[in-house]
Amino acid sequence: MKKLFIQTYGCQMNLADSEEMAAHLLLRGYALTDNLDEADLALVNTCTVRDHAEHRALSFLGRLRQWKREKEGRHIIFAGCAAQRLGEKLKKTFPYLDLVSGAREIDHFASLLDNSGLFSAAQGGEAQPHGITGYVTIMRGCDFACTYCIVPSVRGPVHCLPSADILAQAAQKARSGCPEIMLLGQTVNAWKEDGKTFADLLNEVSALPGVQRVRFVSPHPAFITPQFLAAVENNPKIARHIHLPVQSGSTKVLREMKRGYTRETLLEKIDALKERGFALSTDLIVGFPTETEADFEETLSLVQRAGFSAAYCFKYSPRQGTPAAQMKLLPEKILEERLDILLNKVKGLAEAAYAAQVGKEKEVLMESPNKGRTSDNFWAQTQKSYTIGTVVRSRIASAEDTLLMTRD
Ligand code: 5AD
Ligand code: SF4
Repeated sequence: MKKLFIQTYGCQMNLADSEEMAAHLLLRGYALTDNLDEADLALVNTCTVRDHAEHRALSFLGRLRQWKREKEGRHIIFAGCAAQRLGEKLKKTFPYLDLVSGAREIDHFASLLDNSGLFSAAQGGEAQPHGITGYVTIMRGCDFACTYCIVPSVRGPVHCLPSADILAQAAQKARSGCPEIMLLGQTVNAWKEDGKTFADLLNEVSALPGVQRVRFVSPHPAFITPQFLAAVENNPKIARHIHLPVQSGSTKVLREMKRGYTRETLLEKIDALKERGFALSTDLIVGFPTETEADFEETLSLVQRAGFSAAYCFKYSPRQGTPAAQMKLLPEKILEERLDILLNKVKGLAEAAYAAQVGKEKEVLMESPNKGRTSDNFWAQTQKSYTIGTVVRSRIASAEDTLLMTRD
């Protein structure tokens, strides 16, 4: 049997897209491998949100030149956001590339494979998801225009999938062994359908047979409204964790980024979520052009005040065609210093958030016999072994860095 190796860069959306593309390839006679040397097909699913992410994907593609030469009949597919941005011109620089499939083409991936003449026809059946989480993409694209961000131009405007399709997909994933459903979208909580809101959808997905927990990523603060909070607060199947990208703690920088909120309105939303038992994680950018020392201090103090249990921190990276790319860059040394300070702060907060769980009773959804995640997204290790996919209730005995130890 031919073997497929997948390399995915970027966000959860990309992981889900890789899974979807893999399913089409498995139906065409491939088996997955995590060893590139024994693979016949390499699928590289790429990200372009920062220059660094795109570079990594392109340098991996560069290394595949030699890999392809080593064995007759090897093929390479380059997919995702960098593929979307760079398009067919990739084939000029990398003539050994077989197929380019941009992120917006995911719905046509099967016909792209069939039209290439490189693959055999699909044989029926449904690919089984691996792991306990079933990813379901509910919307694609983004209607915001944050001045640093390339995503709207790469992924296009918002397109919401119909709730009937979303529910059918989630039900199928739950039936095939996924007690956790993760709803995905660039601005996932912007999802809507006549008369139906994102909160309605969350409640409907959580009511499907076999669904124990529902997560979603990435929400935009603009859609965290009192109506949303009221609709989700009494549903314990909706995970008590929200990954809310805030980007900065300075109202001035937020305005320059065109994020559509201020430090104060953000803090109100953060407080409302915390009052309802949500743990919060976030994304932050340091060194956006015009960010002063005082602005950066505001980010540090917001991070402290919010008590994020995790944060992804990035140095600002100018992206071609975005408004901020016209602005004057801060010196790299400043970006590095600020990133270092922020990472240290975030590490301390994560450890404190884990330590604060000691003594509490938690529900752990097992992802391996001894390890799982709590509803508020803390990793926990159990003493005994349990069946994967079951929920174990136990008190937390201790915390070691970013791992909780249960009593049972
Ligand atoms: N530079 C640095 N970080 C960025 N992000 C998005 N665009 C940029 C950029 N130009 C970060 C944001 C976003 C995450 C996916 O990547 O924090 O939430
Ligand atoms: Fe990267 Fe954005 Fe594409 Fe995700 S959607 S892979 S973060 S560019």
